[in-house]
Amino acid sequence: MSYTTADYEHAAAAIRERTPLQPSIGLVLGSGLGGLADTLTDRAAVPYEDVPNCPTSTVQGHKGQFVIGKLDGQPVIAQQGRVHFYEGYTPQQITFPIRVMHFLGVNTLILTNAAGGLNPAYQVGDLMLLNDHINFVGMSGNNPLMGPNDDTLGPRFLGMSQTYDRDLRRQAKRVASDEGITLHEGVYICLSGPTFETPAEIRMLRLLGGDAVGMSTVHEVLVARHMGMRVMAVSGITNRAIDTVDTDLETNHEEVLDAGKVLVPRLTTILKGLLQAIAL
Ligand code: HPA
Repeated sequence: MSYTTADYEHAAAAIRERTPLQPSIGLVLGSGLGGLADTLTDRAAVPYEDVPNCPTSTVQGHKGQFVIGKLDGQPVIAQQGRVHFYEGYTPQQITFPIRVMHFLGVNTLILTNAAGGLNPAYQVGDLMLLNDHINFVGMSGNNPLMGPNDDTLGPRFLGMSQTYDRDLRRQAKRVASDEGITLHEGVYICLSGPTFETPAEIRMLRLLGGDAVGMSTVHEVLVARHMGMRVMAVSGITNRAIDTVDTDLETNHEEVLDAGKVLVPRLTTILKGLLQAIAL
């Protein structure tokens, strides 16, 4: 499925008519983290079903709507729930909402996700800023920028060495430190899912330099960077990766959603502080 700018315009228009706000900041809220959108004021919710061409979420814990509102007085548009590659959507479909946000005027994108902690120092409930990633899904031929390139949106060949904005990371770390919140920085490994990793895969991912592992975010980051957005991404560590078969432990979706409950207030604090800092 490849979209045209007319498709993005059409979808953006459907959102624009539901709110007077014109946010330049976009948020993508991952598994169990959607509660942040409920705290917005002057809120308008637009279900993905109401947005022409927008794929709809099929997973429990992912609501599937845009929420436009104010976070501490600042207009933002949030994706409350995203769609994933493992749901059977193409990388272009998964990233459709990011293109739409660009057409709505978003130039700064903050993405969140639930992730397994590979780094042994990480605890459940910690947050990790992405400073880089390894994109296994893209490497296996599923990169959202494959196919004809629309040069009016971005370049054919996109450099990836300055993906996660250094200034945003610096400001987020300052807010976290002021608020006494643990905020690691590390490498996120993107896999397709929906299966969680085997212990042998976990040991391999650690050897490759991964700190956290998940099934999202990177596709959206590529498309956002393609259009020149400033990007920050944060993983909420929802479970520790299991690296041995000699255990009764098993990773499951419920623990991922449960951990979201402690993560949402921490993430909200950091995002509010960050938005204040970048508004100055
Ligand atoms: N692996 C992959 N994706 C995840 C995990 C995990 O352990 N936890 C949350 N999302």
